[in-house]
Amino acid sequence: MCGIIGYTGVRDAVPVLLRGLARLEYRGYDSAGIAVHTDRGMATRKLAGRVAALHDLVGRLPLHGMSGIAHTRWATHGAPTERNAHPHADCHGRFAVVHNGIIENADVLRAALGRSGHVFRTETDTEVLVHLIEEAGGDSLEARVIAALEHVVGTYGLAVISADEVGKIVVARQGSPVLLGVGEDEYFVASDASAILEHTRSVVYLDDGDIAVLTPTEYHIIDRDSHVQLRAVDDLAWDLDEIELGDYRHFMLKEICEQPETVRSTLRGRLVFEDGTARLDGLNLTPEACAAVRRIVIVACGTSWHAGLVGRHIIEALAGIPVTVEYASEYRYHRQIPLPGTLTVAVSQSGETADTLEAMRAARAAGSPVLGVVNVVGSTIAREADGGIYLHAGPEVGVASTKAFTSQIVALALFGLHLGRHRGLSLEAGQEFVCGLAGLPPLMVQALALEPEVQRLAVRYAEASNALYLGRGVNFPVALEGALKLKEISYIHAEGYPAAEMKHGPIALIDENMPVMFVAPRDQVYDKVVSNMQEVRARGGRIAAVTTEGNGDLSALVDQQLRIPATAHLLSPVLTAIPLQLLAYHVSVLRGCDVDRPRNLAKSVTVE
Ligand code: G6P
Repeated sequence: MCGIIGYTGVRDAVPVLLRGLARLEYRGYDSAGIAVHTDRGMATRKLAGRVAALHDLVGRLPLHGMSGIAHTRWATHGAPTERNAHPHADCHGRFAVVHNGIIENADVLRAALGRSGHVFRTETDTEVLVHLIEEAGGDSLEARVIAALEHVVGTYGLAVISADEVGKIVVARQGSPVLLGVGEDEYFVASDASAILEHTRSVVYLDDGDIAVLTPTEYHIIDRDSHVQLRAVDDLAWDLDEIELGDYRHFMLKEICEQPETVRSTLRGRLVFEDGTARLDGLNLTPEACAAVRRIVIVACGTSWHAGLVGRHIIEALAGIPVTVEYASEYRYHRQIPLPGTLTVAVSQSGETADTLEAMRAARAAGSPVLGVVNVVGSTIAREADGGIYLHAGPEVGVASTKAFTSQIVALALFGLHLGRHRGLSLEAGQEFVCGLAGLPPLMVQALALEPEVQRLAVRYAEASNALYLGRGVNFPVALEGALKLKEISYIHAEGYPAAEMKHGPIALIDENMPVMFVAPRDQVYDKVVSNMQEVRARGGRIAAVTTEGNGDLSALVDQQLRIPATAHLLSPVLTAIPLQLLAYHVSVLRGCDVDRPRNLAKSVTVE
């Protein structure tokens, strides 16, 4: 989904841009580029490859200047080649543009610009923007950008510089995230705050339709009619060490290991034992509104969707409200059937996923209030929602989501508890659940201690071409998530399935070459899951199981048992997920894959 960064100020822009770009690399990493106002005009370096390679290139062909823009790409239009890498320039090299988003009418615009004599050098949709800016009239860069954008249909977070206005960066936002950083005698623009956190904690979140103009001495924001827009300056709560690797080899491992602490942060200040409930001030739901909910629709993508599936079990059990969990990308194009009493909950780590955002907007258009369960403070979903729950899990950098997953489950559990207590859940049951939640962090530490055993199992998985993950009830989504983690970062084909449903199809695949992972903690379906293990064993399948300490010995059926401590069964996914995250991680390392930057993926998917 591409990362953009820009800098104007008293320092040399190049190191600032390259460091920021490295922090944004989780957004896309197939090509990278930089354009800077140097003493001798505007200069660009770009290539197909990683930010580290761009760094080397700039080392060989040095570049200096006090303002510039840079980009790391996740290809949508056109292959990841040097030519297609941003920044893109107009016919005469007077303007340079970096862009995140999609220009939907690029083909029409390209044809029209071509007829007016513009020469295109790339296959990207972005290139039309820079030719439009060249073509536009206006006595300033911002006037040109505004005029150019009048022709554009699509989404963009973009930054533009001009050879004629040294030190100035013009930024525009429509549907793709962009924020400004406010420093002392310096200003930044970035796709997200991690890119600029080491320089400033003061940020301004732009709204759709905003145009920002940055110079070394000031910034201002205008709309398309050049009316000045006032936007608050917010303070970033994240710490720099949260986005540093520290002693870890990969962000994914760091984030897996952080989970006892991140879950503690999600819970902090929210558990009220005396009342057996959760305090969730950000929900903006009155007790009457809680009592009036008749249906909940959770919309999400990827790992967040899996967390939503776990949340469904918890909310239904505690609050007695029917919950459906929809893929946001599908839901947004469904016919919306307005049903009074519907509450829509968008679950998203980044708060920027385009499909989730649009699903949320579609639900609102059909009359539903919308809540966000979001990690990134100030993100678009967080700002557009009527209320919600922040995860407070800190920045998640590894592309494969881990700590966000457990915090999402915990946030949805808090939500279920809160609703439940307004809808007949007894004080005692509420208090018991509060204790279960409060007790999770130390149990997560115990689950993490399984790592050496998981490493042994990983040796076997690393050889596999396929793997099956089976679970039931509240742990079926964990099977899905375990399979997703493995395929995302080790490229082993893995499928998650409800354990009992296996016999209606996937059982045909089982043989000694297909490792089967059962997620089978002690719960009311445990004995049934053991029967499913028998079915796999009878067909020569090799089984590993995540199960609960104190469960009977499964060694007659299972080659390797990973035992997590016991907890309330609705909360068990927070623990069962951990060995599966570790397994995917170690398999990926053994196979020599790029754990934090798996091929073709990006962390924040801001295009449809
Ligand atoms: C991408 C990421 C996944 C993530 C999904 C939803 O596909 O690679 O890890 O689960 O987007 O992201 P969100 O930020 O909305 O949770």
